[in-house]
Amino acid sequence: MKNKEHDYYDKLANWSFEDINYTSEVFTDWIYEQEIKKLTNEYSKILDLGTAAGEKVLKTFPDCAEILGTDFSSKMIEAANKNLLNSGRKNITFRVMNNLNMDTPDNYFDLVTARHTITDPVQIYKTLKENGRLLIRGVDKLDCWLLKKMFGRGQCYYDTKPISQVDFEAVIDAGFKDVELIPLHVVEYYQTPEDLYALLVKTPILDDFDEKLPIENNILKKYVDQNTTQKGIKLVRRYYGITGKK
Ligand SMILES: C[S@@+](CC[C@H](N)C(=O)[O-])C[C@H]1O[C@@H](n2cnc3c(N)ncnc32)[C@H](O)[C@@H]1O
Repeated sequence: MKNKEHDYYDKLANWSFEDINYTSEVFTDWIYEQEIKKLTNEYSKILDLGTAAGEKVLKTFPDCAEILGTDFSSKMIEAANKNLLNSGRKNITFRVMNNLNMDTPDNYFDLVTARHTITDPVQIYKTLKENGRLLIRGVDKLDCWLLKKMFGRGQCYYDTKPISQVDFEAVIDAGFKDVELIPLHVVEYYQTPEDLYALLVKTPILDDFDEKLPIENNILKKYVDQNTTQKGIKLVRRYYGITGKK
């Protein structure tokens, strides 16, 4: 399963959604990018786990002393290094590392970020300085639930305990203080069915969505018919944020 995930991300080699036309309405006053800015200053050292091709780091992370972005996909890191060259940004490095086998120094980073990727809070705790912060953003079980229910499958579909709860408890168990779990409510509107297709082909929301199979297309068409609004095709997202302090 782990190899399958690695190969899936290696094949994609980017995590950019710029070609997909959609809008978002955010219903929670907790914005990941703003939280990063609140927790850092020009002297901060940040580690971004599962950084993909560095899209978020290069576009949204503040300038600071050091940012290391890591990913287990060498293709992602290759693309991240190209994006870095084109960005003109300084003090940023990208390299291959498995989040479950971290080799970063102990007591080194002020902030570890992990957006939509797997984490091991025990290893993150070790690499953080005293009073260093952890910031996680994840995709929860009930994300795109109507759609997943129609397909009878999808990301976290069969989880008995929501992944937000599992992560929250793992962060507490690793020894973090001031741990908070924040549910994040977002509604997205996709401009056309093709935009929604593009999302589903690119992401693991439905696990191996195959737009070439008529049966898959028929279910999706039904979803589009039932969820088309004046703003576009509605997709209800359920994310979560977790913060903690070493
Ligand atoms: C859904 S993408 C998120 C990318 C980026 N953090 C963002 O939010 O835009 C997940 C990324 O995590 C990486 N990843 C998944 N499992 C990993 C692991 N065990 N170690 C390192 N990276 C991993 C994937 O290669 C992929 O680039």
